[in-house]
Amino acid sequence: MSAYILYTILTGLAILPLLLYLRNPYFWDDLNYALTAIKIGISIERYKKRKPFYSILDSFLDKVAKQPQKKFIVFEDSSYTYSQADKESNRVARALSTHGNVKAGDTVVLFMANEPWMVWLWLGLAKLGCTASLLNYNIRSKSLLHCFSCCDAKVLVAGADLREAVGEVLPTLKQQGVRVFILSEDCDVEGFESLSDKIQQASDQPLSPQLRAHINIKSPALYIYTSGTTGLPKAAVINHERIWMASFLQSMAGVRSDDIIYIYLPLYHSAGFLMGLCGSIEKGLTIVLGRKFSASNFWSECRKYNVTVIQYIGEIMRYLCNTPKRDNDRDHKVRLAFGNGIRADTWAEFLQRFGDIRICECYGATEGNIGFVNFTGKIGAIGREHYLHKKAFSYSLIRYDTEKEEPVKDSRGFCIEVPTGETGLLVAKIGERSPFSGYAKNRQQTEKKTLRDVFVKGDLYFNSGDLLKRDNEGFVYFQDRIGDTFRWKGENVATTEVADHLLMVDCIEEANVYGVKVPGHEGRIGMAALKLKENMDFDSKATYQHVKKYLPSYARPHFIRIQDALAVTGTFKQMKVKLAEEGFDPAVIRDPLFYLEDNKGYVPMTQEIVNSIAEGRIRL
Ligand SMILES: *[C@@H]1O[C@H](CO)[C@@H](O)[C@H](O)[C@H]1NC(C)=O
Ligand SMILES: *[C@@H]1O[C@H](CO)[C@@H](O)[C@H](O)[C@H]1NC(C)=O
Repeated sequence: MSAYILYTILTGLAILPLLLYLRNPYFWDDLNYALTAIKIGISIERYKKRKPFYSILDSFLDKVAKQPQKKFIVFEDSSYTYSQADKESNRVARALSTHGNVKAGDTVVLFMANEPWMVWLWLGLAKLGCTASLLNYNIRSKSLLHCFSCCDAKVLVAGADLREAVGEVLPTLKQQGVRVFILSEDCDVEGFESLSDKIQQASDQPLSPQLRAHINIKSPALYIYTSGTTGLPKAAVINHERIWMASFLQSMAGVRSDDIIYIYLPLYHSAGFLMGLCGSIEKGLTIVLGRKFSASNFWSECRKYNVTVIQYIGEIMRYLCNTPKRDNDRDHKVRLAFGNGIRADTWAEFLQRFGDIRICECYGATEGNIGFVNFTGKIGAIGREHYLHKKAFSYSLIRYDTEKEEPVKDSRGFCIEVPTGETGLLVAKIGERSPFSGYAKNRQQTEKKTLRDVFVKGDLYFNSGDLLKRDNEGFVYFQDRIGDTFRWKGENVATTEVADHLLMVDCIEEANVYGVKVPGHEGRIGMAALKLKENMDFDSKATYQHVKKYLPSYARPHFIRIQDALAVTGTFKQMKVKLAEEGFDPAVIRDPLFYLEDNKGYVPMTQEIVNSIAEGRIRL
């Protein structure tokens, strides 16, 4: 009898996975995700409660104790062990405190390109109990001053190569009583102080942990600037909790402690700094630090340093796919890529060309309080709804009016959750576990990113500004960023979607889609700036046929602009606003322009056509 029961239980157990699989084919992925998420949740809770608080710096110091001789950073032809990095940052901290009068609680601005110094400086500042403000090294003059003044810093440290950029704003900085250090051994320019010599002379003895005893999980650790589509950058306050959450993304993506990661994304952004650098410290990795991205050298660098993990943003994957094919394209050790914004077509091409690399797509904004990780193998999805995730982070997709640029409200004035399959604006409830720290000294922008009275009176949500869609299996797809959609003839057009289609046309290498205003019409009509493949002409017929076949009429680009290179921002995002403003008038634009004539296809743009459109003689 008991044997029979045992037998039943055993067969039951044996077919359990099958039953679970039939009910939910993603069961094991879901379970795996849940276990990892729970483990991470427990770690963060533990760090939070520890006295003194356990920060990413403590994690670094633990690695120094455990693996002092392991390579921490490899940069060009030099490499530095964990122990060396520890000592360098002790020196930095001592030099800044002695010569810059930097004290616990101060903010110091770092203005430099990717180089080991940036890491030593940040670690040094953390040891002093200070906050580092990471400036984009591409910004100049007015923006530079603006970013500097956002964070109340009294000290600026600039890379030697950025002396000129700082020189331009030096008089204003000096007026504000700012100390300006340059990372060089000597400096004879009035107003600058050299720092490298002072660091070399400083002692490398450890600093007292007492200096940072005041820090807790909610203390600001960093300021990272996010670029808006318009206006000046905003400084997102990154506290220690945010650092921990971002650092653990590597664990979620499946990075192992024996991996070698290639970080070439700028360290002044959250992708490179938080997910890349901090995540690598959490895992105790060896980091190959790249000064900047280079499509032509990318794989040779990976080979040279035995890189196993790379980080990406979608555009970079496309750039890599666009490089000329080589015989050794698959000769590398890269096994995992994590990042965000890869399009389904690029992803397929990337795998086909560069071999079997696991791609882990993550979603999250620098200042956001919600993120997703693609933990199953679903092409195109940024993640999957998970019971635990939804329980921990209360988020919702709400109906959005892209024309008025505001959420649609019901008769009682509340927002409306979209049904499965419909695109909606992602909003996430602001609460204990999902805080929104806002922007430094920018109440108005902070306010603009929050929504009140969303579902009930008095609730408060973070407005991600992103349009997402959820399918009936619970997969979540990124649709567009608000501003990257436009409305035409009462329909929403997602620019990335149109661009994806254009890219399938043989002659087109890159496409930037946006909406332009037309006199006498509501909304915006589709336009595309195209970069053609080398030695190819614009094939108007093929483009027209493709567009006609795959896109609804309202989504077809009515104007085409051919450019030698598509304009991108410092973070490789396509510029849209400026192009949209420039419109489609051949009297203003020198690039070749084409117009989509009904039933005929793309014809060269003429002044006559523009006038007819303006006068309403041509119906669009
Ligand atoms: C990369 O790996 C190979 C083989 O395992 C080894 O011989 C080589 O020294 C490694 N290169 C570096 C830079 O570590
Ligand atoms: C999601 O992850 C799986 C497994 O690594 C991968 O095969 C798939 O391509 C990913 N999807 C995206 C869009 O990254």
